[in-house]
Amino acid sequence: MTPAPGWRHDGTEWRADAPDAGTMRALGAQLGAVLRAGDLVVLDGPLGAGKTTLTQGIGEALRIRGPVTSPTFVIARSHPGPGPDLVHVDAYRLGSALEVDDLDLGADLEGAVTVVEWGAGKVEGLAQDRLEVAIERAAGPVDPDDPSGGQRTVMVRGVGPRWAGLVLPAP
Ligand SMILES: Nc1ncnc2c1ncn2[C@@H]1O[C@H](COP(=O)(O)OP(=O)(O)O)[C@@H](O)[C@H]1O
Ligand SMILES: [Mg+2]
Repeated sequence: MTPAPGWRHDGTEWRADAPDAGTMRALGAQLGAVLRAGDLVVLDGPLGAGKTTLTQGIGEALRIRGPVTSPTFVIARSHPGPGPDLVHVDAYRLGSALEVDDLDLGADLEGAVTVVEWGAGKVEGLAQDRLEVAIERAAGPVDPDDPSGGQRTVMVRGVGPRWAGLVLPAP
């Protein structure tokens, strides 16, 4: 059975285990529950780590309409919801912070929750407060019958006064 999702604080950051994609979505929903308009979430982790899956959970918590899919071919997609919109950005092909500036995402930030995949090192200038999320796949052999499967660890670190005292739910 899948254990209940949840977080533990290790002194510097919040950590959670995601043994499967459903748990990753549930962790995303727990993050989504603490997010509000103006927040910036920067997602780091290799291709297939589960960044989009986590964002789907954030979208569930924000009750946005329509599916959250990889925005790879559009760079940014805005999903309206009853509360703040979810602006989902894929910064993979953006080479530098300058290009991010060119996107003019700053105009959206105040009324939306902005989640940026591949944003580490590129979008920090958009806001002084941000939630940095890193996803790691467990080392070890890949199951040939389920190559995208396997345990992930999610690490969350809040930067700036907005995130002082962040508490995420325990398992
Ligand atoms: N433990 C897990 N956590 C997250 N995704 C998982 C897990 N196990 C399998 N998957 C699958 O791995 C893939 C992750 O893809 P995706 O979320 O698009 O990654 P990324 O956006 O980081 O490239 C999905 O097909 C998802 O169903
Ligand atoms: Mg993705």
